[in-house]
Amino acid sequence: MPKLKTVGNPLSPLPSELPPELRGPDWVQANPHRIERELRAALALPSGGWYVLDSSRSISGQPRRFWVEGRELVAWRAGPELRVAPDACPHMGASLAEGPVRDGRIVCPWHGLELGTEKHGAWCPFEALDDGVLCWVRLEGPATGNPGDPPTPRPITSPRPDTFIDSVMRLEADCEPRDVIANRLDPWHGVYYHPHTFKRLKVIGVEGGRLLVRVVYGMTDRLGIEVDATFHCPDPRTITMTIVGGEGTGSVVETHATPLRAGRSAIIEATLATSDRPGFQKAIRAAGLIRPFIRKSQRKLWVEDAAYAERRYALRTGQVPAAGRALSAPAGEGPAQGH
Ligand code: FES
Ligand SMILES: [Fe+2]
Repeated sequence: MPKLKTVGNPLSPLPSELPPELRGPDWVQANPHRIERELRAALALPSGGWYVLDSSRSISGQPRRFWVEGRELVAWRAGPELRVAPDACPHMGASLAEGPVRDGRIVCPWHGLELGTEKHGAWCPFEALDDGVLCWVRLEGPATGNPGDPPTPRPITSPRPDTFIDSVMRLEADCEPRDVIANRLDPWHGVYYHPHTFKRLKVIGVEGGRLLVRVVYGMTDRLGIEVDATFHCPDPRTITMTIVGGEGTGSVVETHATPLRAGRSAIIEATLATSDRPGFQKAIRAAGLIRPFIRKSQRKLWVEDAAYAERRYALRTGQVPAAGRALSAPAGEGPAQGH
């Protein structure tokens, strides 16, 4: 194996000793009970009723249909303003996403009813927000499934850098948001499951209750950028990776999971890359050229991580027998050992 050279800003010395629960080989450190405990804590956080739909760039004056929590929605823009409402026309149920927008109002394709911000019978637009990177909608009441999670005026988010190049990737998978979050609460899988991207990855401690990871992103087989990063959940459907040391300190990767229907979720990941390098302002001006490369690597990782999340969902819901419950293990093979 070729020797790996790392470049980038220097990192602080490694802690002399890991906490006891983070010692041992990776498969011991990646303790399923710990991951489950952290997942439960994340799921108990408030969301304010907000869900990510997609990137700000992806919603235009052309109406677009979304599913969230089993509800069919339509999103469009009136000028710069984001609007989100039930997709079914209040007259006879036509899909408004198939209609045009006229003067900021959506026009039903069946009989021409024009709908804007005002209520029409049971049809009522939702609170919506474009935070400059992502579009959000707020659902309230039984749709959120959590009456103890009161609506908030804005989504509950993690800090973002002041200046950044952003790239957003969206894909769908057969799982629930908790499976997406659980994938990221397990950083240990990175170096084994994505060897094309992560050349070295070690959990090196816990900082303020967050796992601290030292990771080398491979640029080639021999060259990589080494950074320190933390993971935390600002709400029950988001996990944020923050670079806290090395190149690009302050950059974040927000992974949002939006439930679409039972057993189906959207994974929407926003990378906000920043740098203190003098050339970064120039890079921002060339963001349009850089963005497709970031998106390509996001997608490559998430195609694999979606398979991880889907596998976890299938195990959790009994679609695949879990370890120790296999009915037809080949002769002489016992169940896998848990820990
Ligand atoms: S179904 Fe929309 S106006 Fe009739
Ligand atoms: Fe992964």
